[in-house]
Amino acid sequence: MEILKIENLKKTYGKDETKVEALKNISISVERGQMIAIMGPSGCGKSTLLNLISGIDKATDGNIIVENSDISKLDENSLAFYRRRQLGIIYQFFNLIPNLSVENNIKLPMLMDDKEADKEYFNELVTSLGIANRLKVFPDKLSGGQQQRVAIARSLIYKPSIVLADEPTGNLDKENSRDIIELFRLSNLKYNQTIIIVTHDEEIALSADRIIRMEDGLIVSDEVIR
Ligand SMILES: Nc1ncnc2c1ncn2[C@@H]1O[C@H](COP(=O)(O)OP(=O)(O)OP(=O)(O)O)[C@@H](O)[C@H]1O
Ligand SMILES: [Mg+2]
Repeated sequence: MEILKIENLKKTYGKDETKVEALKNISISVERGQMIAIMGPSGCGKSTLLNLISGIDKATDGNIIVENSDISKLDENSLAFYRRRQLGIIYQFFNLIPNLSVENNIKLPMLMDDKEADKEYFNELVTSLGIANRLKVFPDKLSGGQQQRVAIARSLIYKPSIVLADEPTGNLDKENSRDIIELFRLSNLKYNQTIIIVTHDEEIALSADRIIRMEDGLIVSDEVIR
């Protein structure tokens, strides 16, 4: 089943001499449950693409259809819900809230909706991420790898159908990077989640199901590898 359809997507920043065509014409169809790596040189438009899918930024032209709804038609309110409930978003810098405990950082998306996290799922999540014994501490007491695990737990707390990760292992060593990718794979298999990871790391890309390579705002190759 197609979960995400991107058609003739274009994004231009600025105008005249400051004009940058970050995305020139991007079309992608993504099946539910696919784990995709996006690669390409710095400045080719990878983050721009993720920011458009997550509705953080608006396209200049083209369509993004997520689970049959066109996200450009959503108002700010619906976009905020879409981002919080349907998507898991993870960045290179972990973006944890410093004055909230690990537990509340993870539960934050649900707390914002006045919802209780499912206890069993929460326990399963923090156990599989290896942070079950760190729940009461604050983020500054955690290593980089642990902070990224907390950010991942937070992104998964709503069991999102699509996870978008922009260089999630960019600040981690090899071992932590491998662990994080394995955790994505576990979540992908267990919940049939669609996962899109931007990475500069060939080894990580090879653990995906499909590799999309971009250059200068265009897709230059798109191969399914498993
Ligand atoms: N807010 C913005 N205003 C103007 N130009 C921008 C903006 N955001 C990105 N760009 C430009 O758009 C192009 C694509 O940027 P983008 O951040 O998507 O690249 P990237 O592939 O993620 O690179 P990296 O691997 O370095 O993260 C670049 O030329 C960048 O300078
Ligand atoms: Mg980027």
